[in-house]
Amino acid sequence: MSKVMAAHAVSVDGYITGREPGAGRGLGDATMLFDWYFDGDTPSQVFDGFKLSEPSARVFDALAGRVGAVVAGRNTYEDSDRFGGGSPHPAARLVVLSHRAAPEMSERQTLITTGIEDAIAAAREAADGKDVGLMGGGVTTEALKAGLVDEVILHQVPILLGGGRPFFQSLPEHVRLRLVEAVPAPGVTHLHYEVAR
Ligand SMILES: NC(=O)c1ccc[n+]([C@@H]2O[C@H](COP(=O)([O-])OP(=O)(O)OC[C@H]3O[C@@H](n4cnc5c(N)ncnc54)[C@H](OP(=O)(O)O)[C@@H]3O)[C@@H](O)[C@H]2O)c1
Repeated sequence: MSKVMAAHAVSVDGYITGREPGAGRGLGDATMLFDWYFDGDTPSQVFDGFKLSEPSARVFDALAGRVGAVVAGRNTYEDSDRFGGGSPHPAARLVVLSHRAAPEMSERQTLITTGIEDAIAAAREAADGKDVGLMGGGVTTEALKAGLVDEVILHQVPILLGGGRPFFQSLPEHVRLRLVEAVPAPGVTHLHYEVAR
């Protein structure tokens, strides 16, 4: 069965955006969370235009190359200007999870309004054997609550943002993690965990 992973660029105090993210504003005042995509000499083999440090490229491409479909929360979808009608990943179909209709959704995007289980099932089908990436703190938390997350990856950027949207929201019980790999790189530390079951 394909794996489900949540990989996010996150501040040391746990935020995946700055204050006031939104359509036309992206991550708000936290664009530095993605500086490591462009601060090196090694081109990504998966994302055109990304030039990372060598250790970051190794980690990033290994993860990005596994993804066959993405489940994004409605906030991520809207704050990212609906991904221009496409997907956040060059080779992965986008599934958007929401409670509401999304009238302007393109043919290349799938809307699911019946919950995280259905969204991940739709993504698994679209991924055709590859893995599913989650995007958004709300969606990641929903998937953790449902016991559907296999791996959590923090691309941890050395900054305290002091506010923004958190990667993890409230959970009803502890979720134990096992460290798979910790890779220090210029401007970011990659922390790769498996959910222990
Ligand atoms: N730093 C990074 O690497 C990174 C990565 C991804 C995203 N982001 C940023 O993170 C922000 C979004 O994160 P977020 O935590 O605010 O939101 P999110 O997870 O993207 O979206 C949350 C929304 O998804 C819908 N949703 C969640 N669970 C649902 C369920 N079980 N059933 C139906 N709908 C459900 C709800 O939308 P409705 O109730 O409105 O329909 C909910 O408000 C964006 O600004 C995005 O750009 C950052």
